[in-house]
Amino acid sequence: MSNPHDSADAPKEWGKTLDDGTRFRITARRNLLDEEFISNVFGSDELYWTERMKPSDLSIMLDNSVTLGLYTESDLTDRKSITEGEVYQQIGLARLVTDKTTFAYLTDVFIENRYRGLGLGRWLMTTVQETVDAMPHLRRMMLLTSGSADTSVEGTIGTKIRFYEETLGLSVFVGSRGLVSMSGRGNVGRKKREQLEKR
Ligand SMILES: CC(C)(COP(=O)(O)OP(=O)(O)OC[C@H]1O[C@@H](n2cnc3c(N)ncnc32)[C@H](O)[C@@H]1OP(=O)(O)O)[C@@H](O)C(=O)NCCC(=O)NCCS
Repeated sequence: MSNPHDSADAPKEWGKTLDDGTRFRITARRNLLDEEFISNVFGSDELYWTERMKPSDLSIMLDNSVTLGLYTESDLTDRKSITEGEVYQQIGLARLVTDKTTFAYLTDVFIENRYRGLGLGRWLMTTVQETVDAMPHLRRMMLLTSGSADTSVEGTIGTKIRFYEETLGLSVFVGSRGLVSMSGRGNVGRKKREQLEKR
């Protein structure tokens, strides 16, 4: 059944060009996702919270999520075109497990190592914010994160908390055994709270 908030019906797109001329795109179009790339990243040590999946499981997961794929221009001829004549390859992802209306769980945020530190992570989070802001009755967005065994690779838990506080306005909700839950009120949550506080 079609859903008016479905990314397939209204795929959002964003573009950015760095000072050196390198062009990047973020799009919610499901059919552009590079499942081999995602599978390889999931199988890497860096994404300590996930693992390589059977292609059919990966497809089901992606079909049932809102995905924001990050892409850069590519010379590779086997990659898909994002716009006519422009070939891009995937270098990052943010995934929302969501009913597209009231709740969104953010996960699988990653950018290929060599493209980090360029502001693309912060930009990706602005597109996550826009995506959840378009959900008419959003009560909460949340995520879970924890420290990695290898802090030199992953950054400390404090770095991650700051990243999501600054980019998405999330705050730490509960912490237990090193696992941190971060959540932020959506428009509904915010409006209701303001109304109740006025009473
Ligand atoms: C998190 C991540 C997407 C940020 O991407 P990025 O393109 O480097 O982000 P930006 O260049 O916009 O900004 C980097 C900021 O993210 C912070 N950051 C957040 N999480 C980080 C992480 N896991 N590792 C390193 N830096 C991280 C950096 O401290 C930096 O802060 P600064 O701008 O104050 O210097 C990227 O580091 C990544 O893919 N990490 C591996 C996967 C991961 O840990 N994902 C988050 C799981 S909760």
